[in-house]
Amino acid sequence: MKETERMLEEVKLEDSKIGDLKLNDIKLKEKAERFLIRLDDEPEMIMDEAKPYITLMTQYRCAIMEIETKLKVLDAEFSQEYKRNPFESIKSRLKSPISIADKLRRKGLAITVDNIEKHLNDVAGVRVICSFPDDIYRLADLLAGQDDIILLGKKDYIKNPKPNGYRSLHLILDIPIFLSNEKKHMKVEVQFRTIAMDFWASLEHKLKYKKDVENEAEIVSRLKGCADSIEQLDFQMQEIRNEIDKNREWDED
Ligand code: GTP
Ligand code: MG
Repeated sequence: MKETERMLEEVKLEDSKIGDLKLNDIKLKEKAERFLIRLDDEPEMIMDEAKPYITLMTQYRCAIMEIETKLKVLDAEFSQEYKRNPFESIKSRLKSPISIADKLRRKGLAITVDNIEKHLNDVAGVRVICSFPDDIYRLADLLAGQDDIILLGKKDYIKNPKPNGYRSLHLILDIPIFLSNEKKHMKVEVQFRTIAMDFWASLEHKLKYKKDVENEAEIVSRLKGCADSIEQLDFQMQEIRNEIDKNREWDED
């Protein structure tokens, strides 16, 4: 079976499933069907139309690589100089075409390549997981302070957690990428979290998509309780580390 036929099978609407889908989902699925049929009939024309989008996504991917490299450079320096890693891990992602279309639609904007670039800040996303809260601020300052980076926006959900308990530091950065014939400024959303904050956010994100939850208010309140415990844990681990560091400095004196 040809690849497009297989994809078409996947998006084809079964009558039995239509009842479960929202109008938006149905429209998207129908669009995907039409797109795949055209892809089969006139592949060259489709690829030509898609080229500006594919080019832009490649540029966002390059911007992610630039940020990742800067973080890895800091990691190499910290490990060598201070025998310490400023972060535990990095996870990067490019926003999916469906999420891009959804977000533009929610903002009341036409789905165009120009609008993606102008109005979306999180097409390129990098998540940096640190061990301790202090590492987050140190690393965020070091990254945002580099002279080719411009800090476009900052949301500090650690100092000001969301009402549901979500905590993280979000930066919107402008970073240049160097192409063969131009230097282009790209936006990247960088989220900094501790392991504990990431643990909570990952599980909360999974739970959010479970539908038909009874006693929702109670669940929200229990999740907030977990977020509070996690904040306490982060605080205590940070204190332990500060204590150990203080002893180490004395030992070395
Ligand atoms: P989005 O439209 O969701 O991108 O929100 P925004 O543009 O207002 O930005 P904000 O900084 O509030 O959130 C951006 C991202 O942070 C989201 O896409 C999630 O990855 C994460 N985030 C924000 N709030 C929550 C939350 O309550 N729970 C979880 N799990 N993640 C969150
Ligand atoms: Mg987002």
